[in-house]
Amino acid sequence: MNTTDTLIPRPSHVALQDTPAFTLAPTARISAPAPAVPVAEQLALLLRGGTGFELPLVEDTRPGDISLEFAEAFDGGPEAYTLSVTEKGARLTAATPAGLFNGVQTLRQLFPAAVENTEASHGEWVIPAVEIADAPRFAYRGLMLDVARSFFTVEEVKEQIDLMTQFKLNALHLHLTDDQAWRIEIHDPGTEGNPSGLPYANLTAVGGQGAVEVSTAMPVRGREGFYTQQDFLDIQAYAATKNVLVIPEIDLPGHVNAALAAVPQLNADGLAKPMSTTSAVGWSTLDGSLPATYEFVREVLGQLAAMTVGPYIHIGGDEAKVTDHDDYVAMVQEFAKIAANTGKTVVGWNEYAAGELPEGSVIQYWFGDLAPVVKQAEAAGSPVIMSPAANTYLDQKYSPESPIGLEWVEGGPFTWSEYYNWDPAQGGLRDQHILGVEGPLWTETVRNNAQAQWLLYPRAVSLAEVAWSGQELRNAGDFRRRLGALGERLANQGVAFQAAPDVEWSATSAWPFPDTGTSSAPEYGTIEA
Ligand code: ACM
Repeated sequence: MNTTDTLIPRPSHVALQDTPAFTLAPTARISAPAPAVPVAEQLALLLRGGTGFELPLVEDTRPGDISLEFAEAFDGGPEAYTLSVTEKGARLTAATPAGLFNGVQTLRQLFPAAVENTEASHGEWVIPAVEIADAPRFAYRGLMLDVARSFFTVEEVKEQIDLMTQFKLNALHLHLTDDQAWRIEIHDPGTEGNPSGLPYANLTAVGGQGAVEVSTAMPVRGREGFYTQQDFLDIQAYAATKNVLVIPEIDLPGHVNAALAAVPQLNADGLAKPMSTTSAVGWSTLDGSLPATYEFVREVLGQLAAMTVGPYIHIGGDEAKVTDHDDYVAMVQEFAKIAANTGKTVVGWNEYAAGELPEGSVIQYWFGDLAPVVKQAEAAGSPVIMSPAANTYLDQKYSPESPIGLEWVEGGPFTWSEYYNWDPAQGGLRDQHILGVEGPLWTETVRNNAQAQWLLYPRAVSLAEVAWSGQELRNAGDFRRRLGALGERLANQGVAFQAAPDVEWSATSAWPFPDTGTSSAPEYGTIEA
């Protein structure tokens, strides 16, 4: 199979050349100027694993090498790149390290799938002569991991980053707090910064011990834990090496029971709520009449902003069903202002657009009427992240027989094709309003990375192409063929993907769980956490 024909996401321009192919030899080197060395290291690590070659990093270029270069003027923005492969070598060019990183992902896919097999170390490392020029449709191409319902360790989050980046996904939204748990350390600011004496350490001491419990998941109870601020910095530093921005979310003013359980002063009666494990939603709220509420939000968002490297912090705003509407609007307006005053750009779920938001605030659309979101986007210039549940929610079951997953979104089934066959530019939204696309993985039924992978792949691959490739380039039949070819790469990486029955897979999943037929706990249990 010609690998130029199986690239995912599909590049803007691919011109296969009628000239001799490039063969990577054991003597090949990778040349890169100093600012490109971290990206060159990534490429070397990828290729060394499969080829067993040394692939030293050098500054000069000679025939047979792979070279990474910067060019100043470049069409397509900071993430664009060109890739030229001839008999004499492979040459990647971009304006930024991010562009080079994207080009590296394409180059990786041009090698035979065996390059992903770090145990084989054999093969002919031939790639066809080709000229590629590529740039993303949207700047923000994300996944969300709900680490609140069930915790993921720092190492697990890094593994998810490793997988997503091969498809040029570049944003990881971490849903850090919810009714069941609070997953991020907040330091006690000391007496002066803490007039009401709020017990911030309880957020993780109490809230970090929570998790969801649902009888349809195996095992039933979610995992406990929390990130120290250092852990969070560590995740972001790792993500940055892979061109991934981390967007942390503190969900306000609903989805807050863990905070109400940890901090008694957030309750009108001054009594801590009991922790809760239910998967029900929309039953908890902050109290907008309590000064402690604003003191708390100011401190938490202040510390969150201080530990966040990227430009965004997410303040939730979804499903505040027991909050009086006027109170809701007053609170989200104030919380958005507090968040913006930290210097960050505010992101919230689309309900929060009911309030007047600071200029440039980002709206993440997930459910309900899109019209007010379009209006805000046009009138106030609010960029939109598109996460319509029926096209992007990665927690949904593929079919009623799926052993894990939720089923509340109407429609379906929810396979790779439902997540492929849609256009983010809809309902009057145009590309210039759209920051990008995100697929949320809520984890009521997910307990480890294998299970997360099984829900993510291949649907996250569909989303990656929706977010990267121009609408005019996309074709479901062609994508299905390319997904089939991707099977061998995913299998070589040990990925537990869902073997969608309408795809001709080139290899079986590391977790070949049948998507139809009865679910089986023992099989489920064979996957290592
Ligand atoms: C959401 O799914 N509650 C944003």
